[in-house]
Amino acid sequence: MTKEPTILSIETSLDDTCAAVTCGRRVLSNVVSSQSSYHADWGGTVPDLAKRLHQKWLPQVVNLALKQAGTPQLDALAVTIGPGLAPALEQGIAYCQHLALNHKLPIIAVNHLEGHLLSSFAETRSGSRGLTKPIYPTLGFLISGGHTELVLMHQIGRYELLGETLDDAAGEAYDKVARLLMLGYPGGPLLSSLAQSGTPRYPLPEPMTARKDLNFSFSGLKAAARRYLEHEQPALTLQFTQDFAASFQQAVFKHLLTRFRRAIDLYSPRMILLGGGVVSNVALRALTRSVANESGLPVYFPSNKKLITDNAAMIGIVASYKFARQEFTDPKLS
Ligand code: KG4
Ligand code: ZN
Repeated sequence: MTKEPTILSIETSLDDTCAAVTCGRRVLSNVVSSQSSYHADWGGTVPDLAKRLHQKWLPQVVNLALKQAGTPQLDALAVTIGPGLAPALEQGIAYCQHLALNHKLPIIAVNHLEGHLLSSFAETRSGSRGLTKPIYPTLGFLISGGHTELVLMHQIGRYELLGETLDDAAGEAYDKVARLLMLGYPGGPLLSSLAQSGTPRYPLPEPMTARKDLNFSFSGLKAAARRYLEHEQPALTLQFTQDFAASFQQAVFKHLLTRFRRAIDLYSPRMILLGGGVVSNVALRALTRSVANESGLPVYFPSNKKLITDNAAMIGIVASYKFARQEFTDPKLS
């Protein structure tokens, strides 16, 4: 058996400064340093601030990831090259190039969304595993703050985009509606936990019911939420906020699940992979599973919370497959 590659990965696609060490699919360390409290005052990620904080934090975050992994001998470096916020991505790429040149290591360039898609393959340090081998075709459902996509995976590295959002991503809609309700930034997780205790009694419609394709749209729903709040000027009591959150979440779930069910009917996948920050939502996972179960399909999602939202271990998982295919990038290229 060939030795599994040990890879140091860097992820800076938005406002989390992340580094991880993986050995094959085993996660030896996974450090996430969140900048969100620095961006909260502005109600969203400030590109220049993200860039400066990544630059400042990367050396410490990388050193911590190496230390927690037991300072192993590395075979390669990996870095997220997109999609994401350009000034943020550039910091991770530049630091990775610097390390590659200093330590004479090859670089593996990784797509952030492929990272989310394959995050269910991560194993613990001791090698305990959930998912070992996909059964193709696999349907990937990516639901994050930047993307909402249905992807058909024919094999690892070969993907077909079936549908995507035409405007805002699902997580972005959560964050924006949370902001309208004065829940802070990023308010998605808080909005979803309030929704759990609410009753959906407000008129927030499921998006794009007339369209029979696999694309998504969340900006109309967000606009409907804004219009209601501006027009009715309700007092933002706990009860109101819970019920409004439940109304919003119900419309989001209906929209996501209609497309998900349609993709299953059209493409007959043999298993499901969930990825992206919104998959942290337990109610959404349960509904996704019940739709998949109607067709007898197994559903996989990352085994711990830290692997669901942005992190560098998922970049390392993708990199281990690319290492096996010897897909390296010239360290001098940006
Ligand atoms: O994948 P991720 O960490 O970053 C991107 O690649 O965008 O996803 C972050 C998004 C945020 O918009 C956040 O509000 C959302 O995931 N999110 C949630 C929940 N937890 C995180 N949305 C709904 N319910 C949750 N429990
Ligand atoms: Zn992400």
